[in-house]
Amino acid sequence: MKDQCQEGVRTFDEYEGFITLESFIANQQSLHPQSRGFFADILRRIGVASKIIQAKVRRAGLVDILGKQGQINVQGEEQMKLDILAQEVIMNTLQWLPAVAGVASEEEEDVIRLPPHPDENDTYVLLFDPLDGSSNIDANVSIGTIFSIMRRRTDSGTCAMSDFLQPGHQQIAAGYVVYGSSTMMVYSTGNGVHGFTMDPAVGEYVLSHPNMRFPDTCTCFSANDSNYADWDEPTRKFADHIRFGSDPRYQNTSSRYIGSMVVDFHRNLLYGGVYLYPADHKNKQGKLRLLYECSPLAWLAEQAGGTATTGSQPVLEVVPHELHQRVPIVIGNKQEVELYERFVREHEGS
Ligand code: AHG
Ligand code: MN
Ligand code: MN
Repeated sequence: MKDQCQEGVRTFDEYEGFITLESFIANQQSLHPQSRGFFADILRRIGVASKIIQAKVRRAGLVDILGKQGQINVQGEEQMKLDILAQEVIMNTLQWLPAVAGVASEEEEDVIRLPPHPDENDTYVLLFDPLDGSSNIDANVSIGTIFSIMRRRTDSGTCAMSDFLQPGHQQIAAGYVVYGSSTMMVYSTGNGVHGFTMDPAVGEYVLSHPNMRFPDTCTCFSANDSNYADWDEPTRKFADHIRFGSDPRYQNTSSRYIGSMVVDFHRNLLYGGVYLYPADHKNKQGKLRLLYECSPLAWLAEQAGGTATTGSQPVLEVVPHELHQRVPIVIGNKQEVELYERFVREHEGS
């Protein structure tokens, strides 16, 4: 464990290898003695919210939380009961935190402005995809929660839309929780990506994957292949190159697509690979949401030695012009994302 901990962080030998999320956050906080702990509190609370959501998810099928809610959200998508439930849990758990000025969510049309805390500057805004992979819920397939934390731009008082409409490189933390064969929280505050697995026996997240990095192999190619005919030419060429070409790097690459972006991303982070949801005839701007899905995962990708592009620019440089903006995305190992960009450039030059 000692070798895997980042420089400057105590090694937790006293815990004999049992480092909980709580102790990890406390240790990180101790590196900033001037900090008042508000930011650490947000991370802790996200951990708590995810525990509540995972408890609900684990009982799906036993209690009446499967199926559709009967409402269409701002994305034009039918909401599942668990989408709403996860959203409520997140709001109930986070809204009383000092220093949080507002919350934006894939499930809410407008941002939720929280009442200003008189003694604070309410420094942060939070952005969520409360439940990613909703279409998989009823089939008991892995799903997740994605979050992003930004420092607000305006000084004080009630937050403004401009506090949320910031490019991804302005994030100060991002992460996700996967509800899979185990529950895992993965996040970064800009010092590497760290993964914590829930130990159900103690009800705590325990550091299981310190300093996660994409392995330098392209084990997985992840895309919704049924859209192939609707992709543009460089995207089709890229997919063909990996799947049918003679490049030795891709001789052992397999297609893997769950349909929960966060879980596809997580698998590719562990095994190496590339995930894409490009623009197509149905989704002219791409399908995935910049602020709740693409930006946070792109930030984690960069922290883990990978990267993400829209095809024309790095995802982290896209300046949002609206809250629920969608973008095309290709994300994962640097080599594959750069290969995609090369196909795009070559196409433009031809
Ligand atoms: P959400 O459940 O938050 O609406 O997101 C679903 C997204 C993403 O997670 C997934 O990769 C993608 O939609 C799947 O889309 P297709 O069904 O078109 O492949
Ligand atoms: Mn989603
Ligand atoms: Mn969602």
